[in-house]
Amino acid sequence: MLAGDINFRGRSTRHRLMSVTAIATPQELLVGTTGVTRGMRWLFQANLVAQIGIVVTGGLVRLTGSGLGCPTWPECVDGSLTPTSAQDESSWHKAIEFGNRLLTFVLAALAIAAIVTAIVWWRRRRAAGRYYPRSLLAFAAVPLIGTIVQALLGGVTVLTGLSPYAVAAHFLVSMAIIAGCVVLVVQSALVQPRGATHQEPPVRLPRVIRLLAIALLISSAIVVFLGVIVTGSGPHSGDAGVESRFPIDPRTISWLHADSVWLFLGLIAGILVALYLVPVPLTLRKRAWLLAGVSVGQGAVGYIQYFTGVPWPPVALHMLGACLVWAITVWLLLGVMRVPSYTNGSIATAKKSNAR
Ligand code: HEM
Repeated sequence: MLAGDINFRGRSTRHRLMSVTAIATPQELLVGTTGVTRGMRWLFQANLVAQIGIVVTGGLVRLTGSGLGCPTWPECVDGSLTPTSAQDESSWHKAIEFGNRLLTFVLAALAIAAIVTAIVWWRRRRAAGRYYPRSLLAFAAVPLIGTIVQALLGGVTVLTGLSPYAVAAHFLVSMAIIAGCVVLVVQSALVQPRGATHQEPPVRLPRVIRLLAIALLISSAIVVFLGVIVTGSGPHSGDAGVESRFPIDPRTISWLHADSVWLFLGLIAGILVALYLVPVPLTLRKRAWLLAGVSVGQGAVGYIQYFTGVPWPPVALHMLGACLVWAITVWLLLGVMRVPSYTNGSIATAKKSNAR
C-alpha cells in the first residue's frame, strides 16, 4: 500500500483508532511520511535544548544563592516588574534571578512556535486527506503547557521562600517536560526514509530487551528522584539565608542515591549485552553506548562533588548530566519499543526471526 492511499479525514475506523493512540505506532508511521518538515523538526529540537538549558540556568540561580534576587513574583520587587536600584539584594543576584525569569519568555516563544506550527501542519494534512499522527499534535503542546506550569511553580517557589518541596517539584516537572520533548523530537523524525522501496511489518525486539529498557527508565527516574532529595537535604537551598531543608541526613541519602546509580549502571550493562546478542538496529546500540558513557561521566561528577563539599561548578554540571541521562534513557526506550524496518537498508533492520 502506498503512502496517501488511505484517507484519514476522520471517517475510517483506522483513523479513530489512531486518534486515541498516545504515540504513533510503527504501523502508523509505515503508512507514509508524516509530512513533518525539517524546520518543524528543528523547532522541536530547539524546544528540547531550551528546556534542558533552563534547568541548568535555573540551577545557577540556586547555586549562586540568587533565588531571592527578585523577592516577589510576578513582579521582581513590589511595584516593579524589573529589578530596581533601591532593592537590598546585590546587583549580581538581581541580574541572575531576573535573567532567568527573562529566559522564560524565550522558552514561551519557542513553545508557542512549536504548537502553532504543529496546528498549521495538522490542518494542512487533514485538508489534503493525508496521513497525520494526531499524537504529534498532542506532544507539540507539551513545551507550552509545561512552560506555563513551570512559570506558576517558579512563582510558588519564590513566594514560599524557596521551600525545598517547591524547588524539588520545579525540577521534577522539568524532567517530565524533557521526556515529552524527547517523544516529540523522536516522533517527528520517524518517517519513511526517502527511497525506501518496500515496507516490512515493524520488527518487535525480544521481550527481554523491551523489559530491560522499561526497567532502565524506572531506575533512571528513581536515581533522579533520589538526587532531588539529596539536593533538598543539602546546603544548596537557592539562597544563603534559607535554612529550610528536607529532614533527612544528606550523607545517608547521598549514598542511597549513589547505590541506585550502581543499579542503573548494571541495567545499562545488561541491555548493552542483550543488544549484542541479537541483530538489532545499529542506532539502538549507539544510543545504549551513549547512555553508558554519559551515565559513567555523570556518576564520576557525582562522586567528585560529594567528596569536595558540593562546590557549584560540578553541581551545575551534574544538573546538566541528569537531564542528559534522563533524555537519553527515554530516547533509548522509544527506540526499543518501536523499530520500523525498511528493505532498502536506510534503517538497519533486525531479522524478524529474532524478534519474539
Ligand atoms: C547516572 C548518575 C546520576 C544521576 C542521573 C544523578 C542525578 C542527580 C539529580 C537529578 C540531582 C538533583 C539535582 C537538583 O535537584 O538540582 C542530583 C544531586 C546530587 N547527586 Fe547525583 N546523579 C547521579 C550520580 C551521582 C553519584 C554517583 C553521586 C555520588 C555520591 C551523586 C551525588 C549527588 C549529590 C551530592 C547531589 C546533591 C548536589 C546538590 O547539593 O545540589 N550523584 N543527582
